[in-house]
Amino acid sequence: MTDVEQIKDKLDIADIVGEYVELKPAGVNQKGLCPFHHEKSPSFMVNRERQSFKCFGCGKGGDLFTFIQEIEGMEFVEALKYLANRAGVTLTNTRADINSSQKNRMKDINAEAARFFHKFLVQMDASRPAREYLASRGMKDETIEAWQVGFIPDQWDLLTQYLLKKGHGIDDLIAAGLTIRRDGADVQTGRGLYDRFRGRIMFPISDVHGTVVGFTGRVLVETERSGGKYVNSPQTLVYDKSRVVFGLDKAKQDIKTKNEMVMVEGQMDVIACHEAGMKNVVATSGTALTEHQLTLLKRYAFNMAMAFDTDAAGENAAKRGIDLAIAEGFSVRVIQIPDGAGKDPDECVKKNSSVWFDAVEHARGIMEWLLERAFAGKNLSDPKQKQQIVNMLLPKIMAIPYAVERDHWMKIVANRIGVDVPVLLEDTKRLQRQKKAEKPGEERKRDSAPVEKTRFDRLAESYLALILRFPDAISASVFEGSDIFLSTDPYFSLYEAIKNQYTEKGSVDREALRFFFLNGTENSVDVFLMKGDLEFSDITKEEAPRRMEEYQRFLEEESKKRRREFLAQHIRVAEEKGNKEELERLLQEFQHI
Ligand code: UTP
Ligand code: MN
Repeated sequence: MTDVEQIKDKLDIADIVGEYVELKPAGVNQKGLCPFHHEKSPSFMVNRERQSFKCFGCGKGGDLFTFIQEIEGMEFVEALKYLANRAGVTLTNTRADINSSQKNRMKDINAEAARFFHKFLVQMDASRPAREYLASRGMKDETIEAWQVGFIPDQWDLLTQYLLKKGHGIDDLIAAGLTIRRDGADVQTGRGLYDRFRGRIMFPISDVHGTVVGFTGRVLVETERSGGKYVNSPQTLVYDKSRVVFGLDKAKQDIKTKNEMVMVEGQMDVIACHEAGMKNVVATSGTALTEHQLTLLKRYAFNMAMAFDTDAAGENAAKRGIDLAIAEGFSVRVIQIPDGAGKDPDECVKKNSSVWFDAVEHARGIMEWLLERAFAGKNLSDPKQKQQIVNMLLPKIMAIPYAVERDHWMKIVANRIGVDVPVLLEDTKRLQRQKKAEKPGEERKRDSAPVEKTRFDRLAESYLALILRFPDAISASVFEGSDIFLSTDPYFSLYEAIKNQYTEKGSVDREALRFFFLNGTENSVDVFLMKGDLEFSDITKEEAPRRMEEYQRFLEEESKKRRREFLAQHIRVAEEKGNKEELERLLQEFQHI
């Protein structure tokens, strides 16, 4: 058995997928809501026996490896390593290639650096001030342990020298963002090479699996030359700050069970909340939320409570993320820390954690919050001020992707400023025009937007699913009559194979078909069998022939329509070109359909 086969043998795809999707039995398969696109009724199927999955909404499908690659954004080798680890399978021939990939070297280096920082903090005398500082901020030893908090004293190249001695290459250290090379640096003697992080409390930044991908370091003693309060890893092969959510590896389970995430601004805020027992808390490291981060977060919940620092700058960074979160379909609430209870969640938790818990529980819907701010201090008898309110609120309302919700807020705003909804709608048009003028032709791409299928394709796919589900119910009449499918149809070859089998042997052997229709990691036969479970679970074998005939009739009609459309198009072309012979032939055929 190959490594891949061994892994598939040991792991159950339904268990793995079940960590992301709630699955319910559907025939021999299981179904659930697709994690790759937003849907209301399940079209996502998992087949245990075949170790495969397929979404009939967005079209994504494949095996265990494809699933992990897609959902975790991993390369194949990464997914292989990850799943091998879970299955307890030792990888054989691929091991060498895996370790040699630069990405993996980066991860090893980061892990080693994290261990170094952490040990340094806990064990070395030189770290006493750092330990005292953390204690003064109320950070417990268990927390330091759990988050692998570390420290690096203010020296030139302590970490660089340590990692070089451990056998890592200087180019890798630089690529990992830990070492900085000055112009004219001498790699042999190590002159001109220095640590990026010096004299800082170190927080490892992990990806969603808990793999350290980067660091953020908080200055211990702020001096003129200490640079910013926080220094972060630069963009590297493994660290993309627009894709990482701080604390998600530790928070994801709780986010799922509570069906809500709490979004704060700083690492210290996240850690303080977890320490206080609120574990669904994550942060974006002081930047606005990005689309990538939101896509990642959607896997766990669509509800988000956000806390802004009470200082104005903090409010701005976080607020830039709100609009995007709303547009991505999140239901957003705003946490307001009461006056005097601390400037950020960390302070609030430390002062009185129940105030913080309370503030989270009573966080208000983003729209109520925006409304209150827009109306605050406005004089509603002044038309100019009324317009200001509308200008503030309309873009937010328009960003909501759900029509009913939009309508709800439109009515409330219209009501409160005393105009009719159509008046607001007029302004909506103006704003839309403005927006178009700002970004011409730019349309936001969405991950795995459901594929638009024609009615013909939908019918044809259901038909094949039905035939494969009830092979014994197939009779010769199924393949009689005009040829419905074109050789360019994606399912043509499968249909032909079924037809050939039946005509030659008088029966359809699904196993034999499977053998020929492995397409990448997907087996078309399995895909159609899953589709059958999704659509025809309530049909008995006795009813099957009648349904097959029904589908056949529909398909014949659709196929004629399709042919007519095709001809009409070519007739136009022939007319334009003045090709009389061709035109005559096409018209003849058109009349005969
Ligand atoms: P804050 O200045 O609010 O810091 O920045 P903080 O989280 O309260 O930290 P403490 O309590 O003083 O230790 C919020 C976040 O913005 C990012 C960091 O991620 C920080 O947690 N930040 C801030 C930087 O990246 N660089 C900076 O220089 C400052
Ligand atoms: Mn703080």
